[in-house]
Amino acid sequence: MSEREFNFTDNDFKRVQKIVYDFAGIDLNDSKKNLVYNRLAKRIRFLGQTHFNEYLDYVEEQGESEFIHLINAITTNLTFFFRETHHFEFLADTVIPELLQKNASTKKIRIWSAGCSTGEEPYSLAIVLKETVPTGWDAKVIATDLDSNVVNTGLTGIYKIDRLKGVSEERKSRWFMKGEGSKAGFVKTKPELQKIIEFGQLNLMADWPIQDAIDVIFCRNVVIYFDKPTQSKLFNRYADKLPMGGHLFIGHSESLYKVCDRFELLGKTVYKKIK
Ligand SMILES: C[S@@+](CC[C@H](N)C(=O)[O-])C[C@H]1O[C@@H](n2cnc3c(N)ncnc32)[C@H](O)[C@@H]1O
Repeated sequence: MSEREFNFTDNDFKRVQKIVYDFAGIDLNDSKKNLVYNRLAKRIRFLGQTHFNEYLDYVEEQGESEFIHLINAITTNLTFFFRETHHFEFLADTVIPELLQKNASTKKIRIWSAGCSTGEEPYSLAIVLKETVPTGWDAKVIATDLDSNVVNTGLTGIYKIDRLKGVSEERKSRWFMKGEGSKAGFVKTKPELQKIIEFGQLNLMADWPIQDAIDVIFCRNVVIYFDKPTQSKLFNRYADKLPMGGHLFIGHSESLYKVCDRFELLGKTVYKKIK
């Protein structure tokens, strides 16, 4: 402890755990203490502060804006295009054909990417919508994340070319523009994809100012940070938001078992609302 640049006591760590849990529902266990120190030390240095408790007082004074900095520093935004490809195949082959029948009178489809990180997930969803929904339909993706920095990356639609590893050659040329000159090595998503994604900052633990009726929710690799009661509450809210038969996709290491019984497992972390 004495070799550390900033003094970091058990009490400081408890304060971090409480802030992160109360604000974002994230359950930081004791094994994360070093990670928390290393990640937050950078922020403390950046702010020119000298003690961990000085920083935590500052966090409490600042409220939401600094809570978000703190949580961003601790959580990971790892994501990629067409992550868990089978989810996108199931969406294209089963869910969208069902919705084209079910919503034929409104001609409207809404998919919510909840915890969208830097945008690779909502762009993958938008590509599937463009490829499967006939013109004349109002099909959109609502993409939200707690971290406003990642939401801004999604809004720009600019990615390093090596982020496209999981994307077929056909899709690369159809849906991405290659940068030239100073933009070499980067791609930008086509405007027709950007037009059908609404990005926004949203904390899943707070109110959801989403007016649209939602048909499908992708909330993948987000609840790994939440304890079971928080997961239960969130999945019940998703069930309230979805119509009967609406689909929920979660991450490969996540499960609704003993967490929420309002969905039926269709296979490979794809669920359907049953009550
Ligand atoms: C690992 S990324 C998952 C990205 C994408 N869904 C995927 O599966 O590739 C997890 C995201 O969840 C977001 N997140 C964590 N807690 C959240 C909360 N309370 N409200 C909204 N987003 C949250 C993080 O900011 C992060 O971008």
